[in-house]
Amino acid sequence: MQALKIIHYPHPTLRHKSKPVTRVDAQLKQTVNEMFQLMYKAKGIGLAANQVDLPLRLFVINLSGDPDEGEERVFINPVISKPKGQAEADEGCLSIPQVNGTVLRPSKIHISAYDLNGAEIDETVDGLLARAILHETDHLDGVLFIDRMSDTSKKTIDGLLYEFENEHKALVSSGEIPDPQTNAKRLAEIEARYCN
Ligand code: CO
Repeated sequence: MQALKIIHYPHPTLRHKSKPVTRVDAQLKQTVNEMFQLMYKAKGIGLAANQVDLPLRLFVINLSGDPDEGEERVFINPVISKPKGQAEADEGCLSIPQVNGTVLRPSKIHISAYDLNGAEIDETVDGLLARAILHETDHLDGVLFIDRMSDTSKKTIDGLLYEFENEHKALVSSGEIPDPQTNAKRLAEIEARYCN
């Protein structure tokens, strides 16, 4: 696999709907470790696999954002149920740096998933952990927090998004980001290895 890096909006992999992971090998464990390192370096508290250009249904979270504090959590094949309540809060995303916006989400959810050792996760969570899990699970479905912003608040970031779109076009022109068909082919190869 290529060296991991965080991709930015509007890279097509961020719109890819990930299939469940059926196989965890040593290389995938190493990838998850690298995801934590990238997340800390970028000063984030969560990172989904498609943010590092991988079509895998998993994400990592450490609410402290500090490798020496908090708890490192890995969620594989997350399923969210029993949403309760509503809460509004400001969100950002490592794939759209420097852009923030208010997002309305359920305040409490149930999460079922597996950790990296194959142990079942079955928890009811609220607060920041619930918000982080909802934000990261959205990523796995190709959804970004900007999609959930109100039209009026989204207007305030349109200019910033336009800059990301221009930067993306330049990276596609220079060949640094593959065209959508080539990218889809690469994702399918990774899926054949981990999602069958
Ligand atoms: Co994000």
